Amino acid sequence: MSVIALHPKQPQEANGPSATMRTPSPASPSAPLAFSLRGIAKRFGEKTVLDGIDLDVPQGQFVAVIGKSGCGKSTLLRILAGLDSPTSGSLTVAGGSASERRSRIMFQEPRLLPWARIARNVEIGLTGIAKGEVARDLSLQILKEVGLADRAEEWPSVLSGGQKQRVALARALVAHPFILALDEPLGALDALTRIEMQQLLERIWQQQSFTAVLVTHDVTEAVALADRVVVIDKGRIALDLPIPLARPRGHGSAETARFEGQILDRLFGRG
Ligand SMILES: Nc1ncnc2c1ncn2[C@@H]1O[C@H](COP(=O)(O)OP(=O)(O)OP(=O)(O)O)[C@@H](O)[C@H]1O
Ligand SMILES: [Mg+2]
Repeated sequence: MSVIALHPKQPQEANGPSATMRTPSPASPSAPLAFSLRGIAKRFGEKTVLDGIDLDVPQGQFVAVIGKSGCGKSTLLRILAGLDSPTSGSLTVAGGSASERRSRIMFQEPRLLPWARIARNVEIGLTGIAKGEVARDLSLQILKEVGLADRAEEWPSVLSGGQKQRVALARALVAHPFILALDEPLGALDALTRIEMQQLLERIWQQQSFTAVLVTHDVTEAVALADRVVVIDKGRIALDLPIPLARPRGHGSAETARFEGQILDRLFGRG
Protein backbone atom coordinates (compact mmCIF):
# COMPACT_ATOMS: atom_id res chain seq x y z
CA MET A 1 0.00 0.00 0.00
CA SER A 2 1.31 3.42 -0.78
CA VAL A 3 0.85 5.80 2.10
CA ILE A 4 1.04 9.49 1.45
CA ALA A 5 1.57 11.83 4.35
CA LEU A 6 -0.72 14.81 4.06
CA HIS A 7 0.17 18.03 5.77
CA PRO A 8 -3.18 18.99 7.24
CA LYS A 9 -2.90 22.60 6.06
CA GLN A 10 -2.22 21.60 2.44
CA PRO A 11 -4.92 22.83 0.07
CA GLN A 12 -7.14 20.17 -1.45
CA GLU A 13 -5.52 18.83 -4.58
CA ALA A 14 -7.11 19.55 -7.90
CA ASN A 15 -8.28 16.37 -9.51
CA GLY A 16 -8.90 15.08 -12.98
CA PRO A 17 -11.96 16.06 -14.97
CA SER A 18 -13.91 12.90 -14.36
CA ALA A 19 -15.28 11.98 -10.98
CA THR A 20 -15.38 8.26 -11.75
CA MET A 21 -16.96 5.72 -9.42
CA ARG A 22 -14.53 3.79 -7.27
CA THR A 23 -14.92 0.07 -7.10
CA PRO A 24 -16.60 -0.97 -3.88
CA SER A 25 -14.14 -1.84 -1.13
CA PRO A 26 -15.01 -4.18 1.71
CA ALA A 27 -15.55 -2.66 5.10
CA SER A 28 -13.74 -5.54 6.76
CA PRO A 29 -10.96 -4.78 9.27
CA SER A 30 -8.47 -6.50 6.93
CA ALA A 31 -9.09 -4.02 4.06
CA PRO A 32 -6.21 -1.62 3.29
CA LEU A 33 -6.12 1.46 5.49
CA ALA A 34 -8.00 4.58 4.43
CA PHE A 35 -6.21 6.72 7.00
CA SER A 36 -4.12 6.46 10.08
CA LEU A 37 -3.82 8.87 13.00
CA ARG A 38 -0.76 8.61 15.22
CA GLY A 39 -0.39 10.45 18.49
CA ILE A 40 -2.70 13.27 17.42
CA ALA A 41 -2.68 16.01 20.05
CA LYS A 42 -4.37 19.40 19.92
CA ARG A 43 -3.96 22.24 22.35
CA PHE A 44 -5.69 25.62 22.32
CA GLY A 45 -3.48 27.81 24.49
CA GLU A 46 -3.17 26.04 27.83
CA LYS A 47 -6.09 23.73 27.12
CA THR A 48 -5.33 20.22 25.86
CA VAL A 49 -8.30 18.99 23.85
CA LEU A 50 -6.85 15.91 22.16
CA ASP A 51 -4.10 14.07 23.96
CA GLY A 52 -2.71 11.28 21.79
CA ILE A 53 -5.27 9.79 19.42
CA ASP A 54 -4.17 6.66 17.56
CA LEU A 55 -6.68 5.35 15.02
CA ASP A 56 -6.34 3.11 11.96
CA VAL A 57 -9.41 3.02 9.74
CA PRO A 58 -9.71 0.51 6.87
CA GLN A 59 -11.05 1.64 3.51
CA GLY A 60 -14.82 1.59 3.33
CA GLN A 61 -15.33 1.38 7.07
CA PHE A 62 -18.12 3.37 8.74
CA VAL A 63 -16.82 4.77 12.02
CA ALA A 64 -18.95 6.68 14.53
CA VAL A 65 -17.25 9.01 17.00
CA ILE A 66 -19.09 9.71 20.24
CA GLY A 67 -18.20 11.72 23.32
CA LYS A 68 -19.51 14.36 25.66
CA SER A 69 -19.93 17.92 24.44
CA GLY A 70 -16.57 19.68 24.23
CA CYS A 71 -14.50 16.47 24.25
CA GLY A 72 -12.89 17.32 20.91
CA LYS A 73 -14.95 15.44 18.31
CA SER A 74 -15.27 18.36 15.89
CA THR A 75 -11.62 19.22 16.43
CA LEU A 76 -10.64 15.67 15.47
CA LEU A 77 -12.87 15.75 12.39
CA ARG A 78 -11.44 19.09 11.29
CA ILE A 79 -7.93 17.67 11.54
CA LEU A 80 -9.00 14.63 9.52
CA ALA A 81 -10.60 16.82 6.84
CA GLY A 82 -7.50 19.01 6.61
CA LEU A 83 -9.27 22.10 7.97
CA ASP A 84 -7.02 22.34 11.03
CA SER A 85 -3.56 21.09 12.05
CA PRO A 86 -2.72 18.99 15.08
CA THR A 87 -0.31 20.46 17.63
CA SER A 88 1.60 17.20 17.30
CA GLY A 89 1.15 13.77 15.76
CA SER A 90 0.58 12.67 12.19
CA LEU A 91 -2.22 11.91 9.78
CA THR A 92 -1.57 9.65 6.82
CA VAL A 93 -4.10 9.05 4.10
CA ALA A 94 -3.68 6.03 1.87
CA GLY A 95 -4.34 5.77 -1.82
CA GLY A 96 -2.71 6.07 -5.16
CA SER A 97 -4.33 8.81 -7.18
CA ALA A 98 -5.35 12.24 -6.00
CA SER A 99 -9.05 11.48 -6.57
CA GLU A 100 -8.86 8.54 -4.16
CA ARG A 101 -7.57 10.79 -1.40
CA ARG A 102 -10.31 13.36 -1.69
CA SER A 103 -12.07 14.11 1.56
CA ARG A 104 -15.28 16.03 2.18
CA ILE A 105 -16.96 17.26 5.33
CA MET A 106 -20.63 17.80 6.12
CA PHE A 107 -21.91 19.83 9.06
CA GLN A 108 -25.03 20.08 11.19
CA GLU A 109 -26.18 23.11 9.17
CA PRO A 110 -26.54 22.61 5.42
CA ARG A 111 -24.54 25.79 4.59
CA LEU A 112 -26.18 26.21 1.17
CA LEU A 113 -25.70 29.36 -0.90
CA PRO A 114 -29.13 31.08 -0.85
CA TRP A 115 -28.56 32.82 -4.20
CA ALA A 116 -27.71 29.61 -6.09
CA ARG A 117 -30.24 27.05 -7.27
CA ILE A 118 -30.12 23.52 -5.84
CA ALA A 119 -28.16 21.97 -8.74
CA ARG A 120 -25.65 24.83 -8.64
CA ASN A 121 -25.20 24.33 -4.89
CA VAL A 122 -24.34 20.68 -5.54
CA GLU A 123 -21.92 21.61 -8.33
CA ILE A 124 -19.87 23.55 -5.79
CA GLY A 125 -18.68 20.14 -4.59
CA LEU A 126 -17.00 19.72 -7.98
CA THR A 127 -15.01 22.96 -7.87
CA GLY A 128 -11.62 22.30 -9.48
CA ILE A 129 -12.77 18.85 -10.59
CA ALA A 130 -15.45 19.31 -13.24
CA LYS A 131 -17.45 22.18 -14.71
CA GLY A 132 -20.05 22.99 -17.33
CA GLU A 133 -22.23 20.18 -18.61
CA VAL A 134 -20.15 17.47 -16.95
CA ALA A 135 -20.65 19.11 -13.56
CA ARG A 136 -24.37 19.60 -14.23
CA ASP A 137 -24.82 15.92 -15.21
CA LEU A 138 -22.98 14.70 -12.10
CA SER A 139 -25.00 17.06 -9.96
CA LEU A 140 -28.32 15.84 -11.38
CA GLN A 141 -27.21 12.22 -10.98
CA ILE A 142 -26.44 12.59 -7.27
CA LEU A 143 -29.59 14.68 -6.70
CA LYS A 144 -31.52 11.74 -8.09
CA GLU A 145 -29.81 9.43 -5.60
CA VAL A 146 -30.86 11.63 -2.68
CA GLY A 147 -34.41 11.87 -4.05
CA LEU A 148 -34.33 15.51 -5.15
CA ALA A 149 -33.95 15.29 -8.95
CA ASP A 150 -37.18 17.22 -9.44
CA ARG A 151 -36.03 20.12 -7.22
CA ALA A 152 -32.79 20.87 -9.11
CA GLU A 153 -33.89 24.28 -10.39
CA GLU A 154 -35.45 25.52 -7.16
CA TRP A 155 -33.92 27.82 -4.53
CA PRO A 156 -32.66 26.45 -1.19
CA SER A 157 -35.13 28.63 0.73
CA VAL A 158 -38.13 26.56 -0.45
CA LEU A 159 -36.75 23.29 0.93
CA SER A 160 -37.43 21.73 4.35
CA GLY A 161 -34.58 21.20 6.81
CA GLY A 162 -34.28 17.52 5.85
CA GLN A 163 -34.28 18.34 2.14
CA LYS A 164 -31.57 20.95 2.65
CA GLN A 165 -29.44 18.31 4.39
CA ARG A 166 -30.01 16.01 1.39
CA VAL A 167 -28.62 18.76 -0.83
CA ALA A 168 -25.65 19.16 1.51
CA LEU A 169 -25.12 15.38 1.34
CA ALA A 170 -25.31 15.49 -2.46
CA ARG A 171 -22.75 18.32 -2.53
CA ALA A 172 -20.42 16.34 -0.25
CA LEU A 173 -20.75 13.18 -2.36
CA VAL A 174 -20.90 14.51 -5.92
CA ALA A 175 -17.12 14.20 -6.33
CA HIS A 176 -17.13 10.66 -4.90
CA PRO A 177 -14.89 11.36 -1.90
CA PHE A 178 -12.50 8.79 -0.49
CA ILE A 179 -13.32 9.95 3.04
CA LEU A 180 -16.57 11.57 4.15
CA ALA A 181 -16.39 13.33 7.52
CA LEU A 182 -19.81 14.06 9.02
CA ASP A 183 -20.12 16.41 12.00
CA GLU A 184 -23.56 15.70 13.50
CA PRO A 185 -25.20 16.10 10.08
CA LEU A 186 -28.56 14.84 11.31
CA GLY A 187 -28.51 16.55 14.71
CA ALA A 188 -31.01 19.27 13.82
CA LEU A 189 -33.58 17.00 12.16
CA ASP A 190 -36.81 15.67 13.66
CA ALA A 191 -36.83 11.99 14.67
CA LEU A 192 -38.59 10.61 11.56
CA THR A 193 -36.57 12.65 9.08
CA ARG A 194 -33.49 11.59 10.95
CA ILE A 195 -34.26 7.88 10.50
CA GLU A 196 -34.96 8.46 6.78
CA MET A 197 -31.63 10.28 6.43
CA GLN A 198 -29.80 7.50 8.28
CA GLN A 199 -31.21 4.99 5.81
CA LEU A 200 -30.25 7.22 2.87
CA LEU A 201 -26.74 7.70 4.20
CA GLU A 202 -26.31 3.97 4.73
CA ARG A 203 -27.59 3.15 1.22
CA ILE A 204 -25.29 5.68 -0.49
CA TRP A 205 -22.32 4.60 1.65
CA GLN A 206 -22.95 0.98 0.53
CA GLN A 207 -23.19 2.08 -3.12
CA GLN A 208 -20.18 4.41 -3.17
CA SER A 209 -18.11 2.59 -0.54
CA PHE A 210 -16.34 5.67 0.81
CA THR A 211 -14.86 5.67 4.30
CA ALA A 212 -17.28 7.43 6.65
CA VAL A 213 -16.45 9.13 9.95
CA LEU A 214 -19.64 10.24 11.66
CA VAL A 215 -19.61 12.41 14.76
CA THR A 216 -22.88 12.04 16.60
CA HIS A 217 -24.37 12.54 20.06
CA ASP A 218 -26.88 9.81 19.38
CA VAL A 219 -25.81 6.37 20.62
CA THR A 220 -28.73 4.70 18.77
CA GLU A 221 -27.66 6.34 15.51
CA ALA A 222 -24.05 5.24 16.03
CA VAL A 223 -25.05 1.61 16.58
CA ALA A 224 -27.55 1.71 13.69
CA LEU A 225 -24.95 2.91 11.18
CA ALA A 226 -21.40 2.19 12.24
CA ASP A 227 -19.08 -0.79 11.77
CA ARG A 228 -17.22 0.56 14.76
CA VAL A 229 -17.89 3.10 17.50
CA VAL A 230 -15.09 5.14 19.02
CA VAL A 231 -15.71 6.94 22.32
CA ILE A 232 -13.52 9.92 23.13
CA ASP A 233 -12.95 10.97 26.71
CA LYS A 234 -10.32 13.26 28.23
CA GLY A 235 -8.63 13.67 24.86
CA ARG A 236 -8.15 9.96 24.28
CA ILE A 237 -9.95 7.00 22.79
CA ALA A 238 -11.71 5.46 25.77
CA LEU A 239 -13.54 2.71 23.85
CA ASP A 240 -13.13 1.27 20.37
CA LEU A 241 -16.08 -1.05 19.85
CA PRO A 242 -16.74 -3.12 16.69
CA ILE A 243 -20.44 -3.47 15.80
CA PRO A 244 -20.54 -6.72 13.80
CA LEU A 245 -24.31 -6.68 13.15
CA ALA A 246 -25.94 -7.43 9.77
CA ARG A 247 -27.51 -4.54 7.84
CA PRO A 248 -29.97 -2.98 7.71
CA ARG A 249 -30.24 -2.97 11.49
CA GLY A 250 -33.63 -2.73 13.10
CA HIS A 251 -34.15 -0.14 15.78
CA GLY A 252 -34.77 -1.37 19.30
CA SER A 253 -33.51 -4.97 18.97
CA ALA A 254 -31.90 -6.74 21.92
CA GLU A 255 -28.58 -6.84 20.04
CA THR A 256 -28.45 -3.11 19.29
CA ALA A 257 -29.51 -2.39 22.88
CA ARG A 258 -26.55 -4.42 24.18
CA PHE A 259 -24.06 -2.34 22.16
CA GLU A 260 -25.81 0.90 23.12
CA GLY A 261 -25.53 -0.12 26.77
CA GLN A 262 -21.80 -0.74 26.46
CA ILE A 263 -21.27 2.71 24.93
CA LEU A 264 -23.45 4.48 27.50
CA ASP A 265 -21.62 2.68 30.32
CA ARG A 266 -18.33 4.00 29.02
CA LEU A 267 -19.68 7.51 28.44
CA PHE A 268 -21.01 7.73 31.98
CA GLY A 269 -18.17 5.85 33.64
CA ARG A 270 -20.29 2.86 34.64
CA GLY A 271 -19.11 -0.73 34.63
N1 LIG B 1 -10.53 27.54 17.67
C1 LIG B 1 -10.61 27.25 18.97
N2 LIG B 1 -10.00 28.04 19.87
C2 LIG B 1 -10.04 27.74 21.19
N3 LIG B 1 -10.67 26.68 21.71
C3 LIG B 1 -11.29 25.87 20.86
C4 LIG B 1 -11.30 26.10 19.44
N4 LIG B 1 -12.00 25.11 18.83
C5 LIG B 1 -12.41 24.30 19.83
N5 LIG B 1 -11.99 24.75 21.04
C6 LIG B 1 -12.24 24.10 22.33
O1 LIG B 1 -11.89 22.74 22.23
C7 LIG B 1 -12.80 21.93 22.95
C8 LIG B 1 -13.35 20.88 22.02
O2 LIG B 1 -14.17 21.50 21.04
P1 LIG B 1 -14.93 20.66 19.94
O3 LIG B 1 -15.71 21.64 19.14
O4 LIG B 1 -13.96 19.79 19.22
O5 LIG B 1 -15.88 19.76 20.85
P2 LIG B 1 -17.01 18.74 20.44
O6 LIG B 1 -16.68 17.42 21.06
O7 LIG B 1 -17.22 18.76 18.98
O8 LIG B 1 -18.28 19.34 21.19
P3 LIG B 1 -19.84 19.36 20.76
O9 LIG B 1 -20.32 17.96 21.01
O10 LIG B 1 -20.47 20.32 21.69
O11 LIG B 1 -19.94 19.76 19.32
C9 LIG B 1 -13.83 22.87 23.54
O12 LIG B 1 -13.47 23.13 24.88
C10 LIG B 1 -13.70 24.11 22.71
O13 LIG B 1 -14.02 25.25 23.44
MG1 LIG C 1 -18.77 19.42 17.74
